[in-house]
Amino acid sequence: MPPPAAHETHFGYRQVPLEEKQGLVDDVFRKVADRYDLMNDLMSLGLHRAWKDILAAKLNPAKSRPFAHLDVAGGTGDVAFRVAAAGGPATRVTALDVNPDMLRVGRERAGRRRGGERVTFIEGNAEALPFADDTFDGYTIAFGIRNVPRIETALTEAFRALKRGGRFLCLEFSRVDTPVLDRLYDAYSFAVIPALGKAVAGDGAPYRYLVESIRRFPGAERFRAMIADAGFARADFTRLSGGVVAIHSGWKL
Ligand SMILES: C[S@@+](CC[C@H](N)C(=O)[O-])C[C@H]1O[C@@H](n2cnc3c(N)ncnc32)[C@H](O)[C@@H]1O
Repeated sequence: MPPPAAHETHFGYRQVPLEEKQGLVDDVFRKVADRYDLMNDLMSLGLHRAWKDILAAKLNPAKSRPFAHLDVAGGTGDVAFRVAAAGGPATRVTALDVNPDMLRVGRERAGRRRGGERVTFIEGNAEALPFADDTFDGYTIAFGIRNVPRIETALTEAFRALKRGGRFLCLEFSRVDTPVLDRLYDAYSFAVIPALGKAVAGDGAPYRYLVESIRRFPGAERFRAMIADAGFARADFTRLSGGVVAIHSGWKL
């Protein structure tokens, strides 16, 4: 597939004008919001929980002093709750998402969880964070950045909003390049996941987008270079589960 023209981007396997992508992505998450957590467990066979646990452990928020954390594309709060639990009593987490339906589910969950009061859900866009420069000690984005139309802009915003010494971590799908496993993964992705979406959530299309968007996302080496280009030092990544996902990291120094 050719790379998109400067004013275009990918929406799954389709090329769309840059300014149309966000609306299409918002439709996807509006449709899936109420089944999002259940579908995550089913599609990843529960693995997303372990990946998010590893992300929070890698962040290792300070336990004995205040820690201001921003979780972008925070959705229903999975990462935000884990960071709040991993930190100390003075840890505060802001979960930002562009989609009010995902935020509604997140706020409902926060009301039922211990430590939920340390998490604030706010509506906002990863490309234009509503915060002053140098505000946060940590920034995470999990399974979010590939949905953002202008990834470079989101990375520049992450850099701007972090304090000097702040940590950037991104959990995202990556590439499986182990023989046999790659074919099994493809078959599972393209046959099972949309069918599961149709059976459980009543619509296969959002899940087809999910699978296609994973294939369009840059490989780990290229994404590492994009993170470095945004200004982050020591940009690096760790592949998990045979490359199904990777955790990318960097520091604002
Ligand atoms: C796959 S969900 C991930 C949710 C959560 N981080 C998790 O891991 O369970 C992707 C989220 O990205 C959000 N999103 C998409 N575009 C965004 C943008 N430009 N700014 C902020 N959030 C965005 C969607 O609304 C959705 O909640």
